[in-house]
Amino acid sequence: MDFNIEWHDRLGSTNARMRERFYATDAMASGLVIAARDQTDGRGRQDRKWLSSPNTNLCFSLFLETDAELIKVPSLTMAPALSVTELLNSKGMRAATKWPNDVLVTEKKICGILSERVEQASHRGIIVGVGLNVNMSSEEADSIDRPATSMMIENGRAYDPGQVLEDLLPQLEYWIGEWAAGGFPAIRRVWTENTGPIGKKLIVHDGDIRKTGTLAGFGEHGELLLETDNGHEIIWSGDVS
Ligand code: BTN
Repeated sequence: MDFNIEWHDRLGSTNARMRERFYATDAMASGLVIAARDQTDGRGRQDRKWLSSPNTNLCFSLFLETDAELIKVPSLTMAPALSVTELLNSKGMRAATKWPNDVLVTEKKICGILSERVEQASHRGIIVGVGLNVNMSSEEADSIDRPATSMMIENGRAYDPGQVLEDLLPQLEYWIGEWAAGGFPAIRRVWTENTGPIGKKLIVHDGDIRKTGTLAGFGEHGELLLETDNGHEIIWSGDVS
């Protein structure tokens, strides 16, 4: 995949800008990356806000053209999560993926991913938005309502977000390529190693529904398999703790 990176000093949301771009054109090739040094209206999953101070973290969206059926789409987001995990591990952190598409270090969130499907008569694809906390300070991390960390907090030094993006591209290319070739089954082993262990206790929240059980594994499309007192349950969406 050829990456074409566009940096902006300030944007509301890189996902929103990518979506506008998609609907304004008749064709868009995989690999366009829109990145913002300052993202003022970042969006997270379940309508949450994604907070990032100017010139501090990495906020970008990547477009992937794909005809994959809808059921295959959620697992595509797991490929960038694996890419970020590998990058952080290469920098001496012990990163883990958290279903469906977060990355944690020391049990705290360091990266969140929001993917959106876009479709026009002539073409369709997925926008994958990645927010990676690079130079977030511990004061800022403490002000977030959920445990959060950053590369700087973990490694005690600042990083250049632009360089972090450059370093991430080979991993993105590799893991997205694996997904494109074989879907979730092609990334399942590494995903499970990074997200497990099998048998760990989980609480899954989906709206008002709360389920407890242990991790039994991941299905053909990345759905979470939960072993509960009522038997095996298949979880397609939710928040895990
Ligand atoms: C989450 O964990 O809830 C997902 C957060 C995703 C944040 C990124 S930052 C770049 C891109 N643009 C957005 O508005 N959101 C994503």
